[in-house]
Amino acid sequence: MPNAYISGTGFHVPEDIVTNQDLVTRYGIDTTDEWIVKRTGIEARRFAPEGVGTADLAVPAVQMALERAGISNADIGMIIFATLSPDHCFPGSGVYLQHKLGLTDEGVGNFAGCLDVRNQCSGFLYGLATATSMVQSGSVDNIVLVGAEVHSAALDLSTRGRNVASLFGDGAGAVIVSATEEDRGIRSWHLGADGRHADALSQKVFDISKRPFIPLNEEGVGQVAPDYMFAHMAGRLVFKHAVERMIGALMKEFQKQSLTVDDVDLFFFHQANLRINQYVAKNLGLPDEKLFHNIERYGNTTAATIPIMLAEAQGQGRLERGMKIVTVAFGSGFTWGAAIIDW
Ligand code: UT7
Repeated sequence: MPNAYISGTGFHVPEDIVTNQDLVTRYGIDTTDEWIVKRTGIEARRFAPEGVGTADLAVPAVQMALERAGISNADIGMIIFATLSPDHCFPGSGVYLQHKLGLTDEGVGNFAGCLDVRNQCSGFLYGLATATSMVQSGSVDNIVLVGAEVHSAALDLSTRGRNVASLFGDGAGAVIVSATEEDRGIRSWHLGADGRHADALSQKVFDISKRPFIPLNEEGVGQVAPDYMFAHMAGRLVFKHAVERMIGALMKEFQKQSLTVDDVDLFFFHQANLRINQYVAKNLGLPDEKLFHNIERYGNTTAATIPIMLAEAQGQGRLERGMKIVTVAFGSGFTWGAAIIDW
């Protein structure tokens, strides 16, 4: 059985930097930099311009990852695309990305399979577990795993939506999960979910149990009320469960691998809220220098936070062969996951 390892990482964020103060001046939201920084650690986020979709953001991230892995698009055997903000209801963003990467072009034409993962903030880790198992099965050698989000289009950028709108940003991260005979790679993973809280962080733009699935006005045009159009979050409940589940997932992984915090070189926690991560880190006794973070610059990019961090860490020379890294995420569903990787 081959091992599965991350052979390349890449990321891409839009140019437009939206500071906390910009939320006030540009969008007229009743908030302050102090409130957002104190509660979340977020100072700015990026917003994609109109006309740029989720698969578009993913393309440069994947190209960087392919380059770092030293392979070309012709070597891609599978695409796994994790997002909660897909380009369209269907089909998934994976096939759009496949076409944009040229995998359907004459001469390349490998028509790699495309799978979309719908596990929100844990999407990247659900995708990593899937990619790892696929590579270990021997059926595919190189998988492009993407986490990408265009949140800005679906945020309620008004005072009414400030509790959610001030948290999220756009961005894309990608890794290549490859087969190797070397003694390295993704050692173990843990995934979990608690569907009792499915509604606690949700965006119910449509309801397929209703006839019609979107309310129609007198002209037969679909109309969605703001309560349904935009994401709803029970913030405090999410915060409490995030802390508990992240600690639980990490403890399970440590136990499985007979590890302690001291054995780990770097931790990559999902970037939902710096305070959540500091709380978890303190609880586990992690020193600050072992905790990578970038939430201050990008906000919460949901499925993209972990692959963006991995790509930035690699770019900064902080990820070296032989290091042991641990990653963990929690989010809507509720869903959570963790993984241990020998880099
Ligand atoms: O990746 C997905 C997972 N998501 C998370 O992990 C998020 C978890 N939750 C949180 O991080 C926190 O709940 C928040 C940072 C989102 C909110 O902090 P909180 O201390 O739980 O605030 P709250 O939602 O209970 O709201 C407290 C007050 C409210 O005002 P009133 O009703 O007390 O007058 C809100 O309207 O703060 C108000 N508020 C704001 N004020 C200024 C909410 N958002 C803002 C804002 N600026 N951006």
